[in-house]
Amino acid sequence: MTGNVRPESMTRINTLELAEAFIEEQVAEIRAQVGSGKVLLALSGGVDSSVCAALLSRAIGKQLTCVHVNHGLLRKGEPEQVCEVFGKQFDVNLVYIDAVDRFLDKLAGVSDPETKRKIIGKEFIDVFAEEAVKLEGIRFLGQGTIYPDILESADGIKAHHNVGGLPKELDFELVEPVKLLFKDEVRCVGTALGLPANMVNRQPFPGPGLGVRCTGAITRDRLEAVRESDAILREEFAAAGLAGKIWQYFTVVPDFKSTGIKDGKRTDDWMVIIRAVNSVDATSATVEEVPYELLLRIRDRIFAEVKGVNRVLYDLSCKPIATIEYE
Ligand code: XMP
Repeated sequence: MTGNVRPESMTRINTLELAEAFIEEQVAEIRAQVGSGKVLLALSGGVDSSVCAALLSRAIGKQLTCVHVNHGLLRKGEPEQVCEVFGKQFDVNLVYIDAVDRFLDKLAGVSDPETKRKIIGKEFIDVFAEEAVKLEGIRFLGQGTIYPDILESADGIKAHHNVGGLPKELDFELVEPVKLLFKDEVRCVGTALGLPANMVNRQPFPGPGLGVRCTGAITRDRLEAVRESDAILREEFAAAGLAGKIWQYFTVVPDFKSTGIKDGKRTDDWMVIIRAVNSVDATSATVEEVPYELLLRIRDRIFAEVKGVNRVLYDLSCKPIATIEYE
């Protein structure tokens, strides 16, 4: 797709027919740009990179290689879903890299949130670049850039999830087939491409993943508590029919303990904070009024299933005054 400005005449893609027409047009454009060349794509499993991968796969099949880096900060079941959907269903060349220890070792003892973000970002580029040099003959880099990324980086706000900063010797030409689309259009195209609904309609998830929900210096026990409690929250919200209705919901495990009591003995354990907010564009957010019964059920499951937790809280803070994430 040429040019970084969305033409005013471009129709908003909000039906499967419009999505099919877009896909057909992009398949032709990708083939024209890439020819018989090979494309590499960092596939996180988020909406944008997943739709980009599915579109590239439709256009060029095995000329596409996807690299999925498991940095240990993904939600429960995510790496498995990426392997299932792209490795099996879409049958793409998928390189799965288990970099969990590498990331967690680098992050050990680091408590400053921005330093944590920088380490995660840099390590990701290093792992990806190491893999890219191993794969020979690749000229193109696929990226799931979407229109809000372009608008936001023009404002200098953020350039989070793109693989910026690759070393110079990896001089790729970019292929960005969804760069003029808004998020709702990307979801619509993803559905038309046959991606699973829970992947296409995924709630926003920060690039540094669970790393910013395990506050302060990340420890493996607290990271597990975040991952397990988040999975319980998602399961219970889905069972209550709330999954697609709330903008963003997750759990946080702060880096301090509190006193509890179990089997007549004092405990000194972690707490899980539940957060569920509604928003339009993440610049402000209100708190979801989760039914009390449901909160109690989630609390009971967390106490029964998550190790090292003796307290469950519900966060009532709107944005502003609080931000959505904790750090
Ligand atoms: P805050 O916490 O600033 O979050 O109210 C607003 C939205 O941005 C997401 N978020 C991030 N996304 N990298 C990302 O890709 C980050 O470092 C990051 N920090 C926050 C957050 O989940 C929410 O949707």
